[in-house]
Amino acid sequence: MSHPRILVARSVFPEVIARLEQHFDVTSNQPDETWSKAQLIEKLQGKDGAFTTGGERIDAEVLAACPTLKICANMAVGYNNFDIDAMTAAGVLATNTPDVLTETTADFGFALLMATARRITESEHFLRAGKWGKWSFDMFAGSDIHGSTLGILGMGRIGQGIARRGAHGFGMKVIYHNRSRLDAAQEAGCKASYVSKEELLRSADHLVLVLPYSPASHHSIGAAELALMKPTATLINIARGGIVDDAALALALREKRIAAAGLDVFEGEPRVHPDLLTLSNVVLTPHIASASVPTRLAMANLAADNLIAYFRDKKPLTPLNPAALASR
Ligand code: GLV
Repeated sequence: MSHPRILVARSVFPEVIARLEQHFDVTSNQPDETWSKAQLIEKLQGKDGAFTTGGERIDAEVLAACPTLKICANMAVGYNNFDIDAMTAAGVLATNTPDVLTETTADFGFALLMATARRITESEHFLRAGKWGKWSFDMFAGSDIHGSTLGILGMGRIGQGIARRGAHGFGMKVIYHNRSRLDAAQEAGCKASYVSKEELLRSADHLVLVLPYSPASHHSIGAAELALMKPTATLINIARGGIVDDAALALALREKRIAAAGLDVFEGEPRVHPDLLTLSNVVLTPHIASASVPTRLAMANLAADNLIAYFRDKKPLTPLNPAALASR
């Protein structure tokens, strides 16, 4: 019997390709070429499944042009690159990679917060540029992390991981806002108190964004929200580009209406708003929050496991739209 045909849309660990090859007829993209939508459609012709990353948009146009496709396994927890309703309507299963990246991503959120508040990259650039002539009392003086108020917008698994680090590791007061309030045991576990979005913006010394991107969360932080924040506050975005209005943020940073920002994700990435690049009070990283070697390997293996399980017995591990299974 011939194996199902799989497209791996981006370069990935060779051992994961080797695993997939035990189960599938694999077309890979190990040179990591960047494909246009038309090229993606061409590569998907005749394929039964796809191993995707956040960069491949799977929408009604792609689905209509690729009628043999049955599953897309995303190597990411976020899945705003998938039009889930269109996939369900087409009977195409979507899967993502939750849980395996929670702690690594929370670690990075905290690292970015600390680098931003304590001006680590800005001061390193100064040192490397040979500008360090003498000690001075206010050189790169930033804001404290211990004992401050940590605000979290979006309190899923990663938000709770950041809250635990702040509350238990740094004695921070933790407040959060989320579509739905956590139950009492979850709140106690991360010592977090639920507040309104306005209260969160007004009270946080450090505000971390960890909510999923959707049309409803587009520009959740824009000029009006930034205006409510403390002038000493830092803003950290490890969620998705588009949740913050980057142009409004650049202006607020330039005018010192908030102290600093740490950004791992950008509207229209890998392009970065040019105004952000000119500012010294922003730490910029290229969407690497989940990028520890063990976690990226775990994510790739979970995406592969979803493909293997789907074609074995239609029991994927982390389905996003199980209704799609019913129509196959
Ligand atoms: C990364 O951004 C992810 O969604 O896993």
